[in-house]
Amino acid sequence: MSPADKPQGFKRMRHRPVSQQTRRHYSVGTTNTMKARPKRSAEIQPASETEIYRLVAENVADIICVLDLNLRVTYLSPSVTHLLGYAVEEGLGQYWDQWIDVALTPDCAAIVGKAFRDMVASLNQGHEDVFKSWTTELEFIRKDGSTLWTESKATVLRSLEGRPIGFIGIVRDITERKRTEEVLKRSESQLRLLSQRIIEVQEEERARIARELHDQLGQELVALKIELVSLAERLAGVPPLRDRARAMLDLVERLDATSHRIAVSLRPEILDELGLVKAIQWYAEDFERRSGISCPVEAPVDEPILPRQTATCAYRILQEALTNVWKHSGASQAKIRITASDNMVSVSVSDDGVGLDLKRFPDTPSLGLLGMRERASLAGGRISIRRNRGKGLRVVAHLPVNTAQADTAATAMV
Ligand SMILES: Nc1ncnc2c1ncn2[C@@H]1O[C@H](COP(=O)(O)OP(=O)(O)O)[C@@H](O)[C@H]1O
Ligand SMILES: [Mg+2]
Repeated sequence: MSPADKPQGFKRMRHRPVSQQTRRHYSVGTTNTMKARPKRSAEIQPASETEIYRLVAENVADIICVLDLNLRVTYLSPSVTHLLGYAVEEGLGQYWDQWIDVALTPDCAAIVGKAFRDMVASLNQGHEDVFKSWTTELEFIRKDGSTLWTESKATVLRSLEGRPIGFIGIVRDITERKRTEEVLKRSESQLRLLSQRIIEVQEEERARIARELHDQLGQELVALKIELVSLAERLAGVPPLRDRARAMLDLVERLDATSHRIAVSLRPEILDELGLVKAIQWYAEDFERRSGISCPVEAPVDEPILPRQTATCAYRILQEALTNVWKHSGASQAKIRITASDNMVSVSVSDDGVGLDLKRFPDTPSLGLLGMRERASLAGGRISIRRNRGKGLRVVAHLPVNTAQADTAATAMV
């Protein structure tokens, strides 16, 4: 296709101050000012389309730019001065593919250069419909050297017969949007750090209380039991007092069992000592006994070797999933399945209960499921919640085992 030899664009290229343009608009082709008496409406000629488009182009904040097929700038709206600091005359008549190296950061210049070359090549090969329009974010360099983020759109410009004759480009300042995105990204990452730290502190605190209960309270209760046994023996001859001492001994034993149960629920030693599979099997048995919901566990024979934070994360997710089964599902069974490969461990809980309307689900603020998601993502993994085959719900935690991955995602989860 032969390149267009005539510059294309709006007929009137000269830039006038807005006040003059406005006056022209109202004075409808006369040089009189607003003071001139308006003519009767029947005599008023409508403004030409060219005039309307010129006024629009000259009054919008976006830069509007027209190129011919040789990529020569044939029209440039005056906002180029406000946004980029160049006078219209500096850009007019220039070849865009030379100008982009000056006006765009190197990365963006490369993207735009290639896009325009491809467009022209496609048009020259007769693929006229290939590029209808093209929108991207581009970083411009102002005349003073500062930079400006824009959303830029290029569209093929066609003659009345539909022949491509050039391009029209619209460049919009998106500095504010970019700034807001940056602020959002920053606050999102701060929130992630905060929730990571909260989980970390919560785990540390649980472990500390569990240790205190076991080491301190546990030891003291044992000492108390020894004392009560000896007291009961000495009171053998005084049955009413001996029975009271025995009743106290029963009470202390119950207290010991309660403190042990609390310690274990805070942080099961078994998780640290025997690993995730054993801890889950133990928890499932306990859950089955307490809830009456059958809880079979399918797990690898060999205990997978997991970083401590991954094991804790999987265990906590399982606890929440089983608590949910008990609280919400009305299920009679919750199957647990643990699978492990070299780089991934998955724990799934499938119940046969009422299930959940997953379409409505994202609107419901629910801390338990949110917490599971957060824990999994801090450990570099994810949670999937699906309708169970048959009925009920299936919650699966997929967690990476690769220590480096888990470490960067959740350095401090204990
Ligand atoms: N296994 C399940 N079966 C049915 N509904 C469930 C199940 N797990 C969660 N849900 C639903 O999802 C909601 C959110 O759960 P969750 O975030 O743990 O909050 P909470 O348990 O505090 O209500 C629950 O209120 C319940 O309606
Ligand atoms: Mg819950």
